[in-house]
Amino acid sequence: MKIEVNMGCKVLIGTQWGDEGKAKLIDYYSGKVDIVARYQGGPNAGHTVVVDGRKYVFHLLPSGIIQKNTKCVIGNGVVIDPEQLLNEIAEVEENGYDVRGNLLISDAAHLIIPYHRVFDGAMEDNSDKKIGTTKRGIGPCYSDKCLRVGIRVGDLFNPGYLEARLKETLAGKNLQLTKIFSKSEFELKSVKEMLVKFRDEIAGMVTNTQYYLHKSIDEGKTVLLEGAQGTALDIDHGTYPFVTSSNPTIGGALMGTGLNAFNVDEVIGITKAYVTRVGEGPFPTEDLGEDGELLRKNGAEFGATTGRPRRCGWFDVELLKHAKRVNGLSNIALTKLDVLKGFPKIKVAVGYKLDGKKIDYFPTGRIDAIEPVYEELDGWDEDIMECTSFNDLPENARKYVEFLEERTGVRASIVSVGPDRNSTIVR
Ligand code: IMP
Repeated sequence: MKIEVNMGCKVLIGTQWGDEGKAKLIDYYSGKVDIVARYQGGPNAGHTVVVDGRKYVFHLLPSGIIQKNTKCVIGNGVVIDPEQLLNEIAEVEENGYDVRGNLLISDAAHLIIPYHRVFDGAMEDNSDKKIGTTKRGIGPCYSDKCLRVGIRVGDLFNPGYLEARLKETLAGKNLQLTKIFSKSEFELKSVKEMLVKFRDEIAGMVTNTQYYLHKSIDEGKTVLLEGAQGTALDIDHGTYPFVTSSNPTIGGALMGTGLNAFNVDEVIGITKAYVTRVGEGPFPTEDLGEDGELLRKNGAEFGATTGRPRRCGWFDVELLKHAKRVNGLSNIALTKLDVLKGFPKIKVAVGYKLDGKKIDYFPTGRIDAIEPVYEELDGWDEDIMECTSFNDLPENARKYVEFLEERTGVRASIVSVGPDRNSTIVR
């Protein structure tokens, strides 16, 4: 018997430290697929989409929710903050979108309970080695998942189990909160009430999304898997411990939806034309001078979730090669090329030195010890936001893109030249 596995699934993955402009590309692709599914992370993400001048920032909802004919899925790998999700649903519905008719939520996704946020903040505030987390409760929630004491969406529909689980968990959490962090206790009653309200609001949207996605692909539907954060923030393949607590890379896309490797026909790496990072941790090509400041100003590089200024620096060839290896990138979408306008010279880190020797890989464990080797390219002064084809771009902008392609061995099949949906060059 021949075993057939249907494809029809594209994956969008950040190749740097997040904030690569994924949401704009997700929005672009989501008009061309039947289903968009988020696979990891939670409200630490801040996905900004601009449509006809109106800005939407999504933290938990898949960015495809503002495409009228696209179904959206919050997969089992996502951690959901109930209050945040309800607020987001209400906000998008106020703008005329049918969220309840288009959204499905995995019964296996874990819930961020308010104590997770308190732990996240308290651990950061009490540590000498801060990660610079978003304090949204992400790490503590994923920890509970791995410890097998988490609360899942499906548990809300099993009142007896939920009550017993909450009682036991809260006893332990309250002890830690009061004794270790001098914080207040959480009451079972108020946590339960919040969860029951959430359950009643989402009841019609909860399902086994793994089965739904497979069935849809078998029926010939196309799926886009939407990653949050980026490859260098991956808990296994990033700059540990300065990472998030999930896998934004391709493995996470499969684990966080239940799809398999054979379902995937394209992996698109979302890559900013320069690099940013928010939070602590090594960043080899960071520019702490005037150029870094200018990148931040021109690129409006402030966190969409926390408002923190992002650290800015130059394109890093080894980082993209790392993302290519880990994720099996088919191509990249190069974003925010317009931000580089006006720099007389643009630096690119074309390789690294470690202990005085040239290396040709991204050493995740020793990234703070490497020294980038730079080349400089000529910049351009023209505004490129209105360019609609690659040939419209100034010669130096074209040369810059071609240089990155040549050094990384990945083709930029999309070049984004502005925040609006229409400022997108397809090659
Ligand atoms: P956490 O995910 O809140 O635990 O934060 C861990 C690290 O990931 C911190 O450095 C955060 O700044 C970073 N981080 C988390 N989410 C995002 C994101 O969506 N974009 C960029 N950085 C993020």
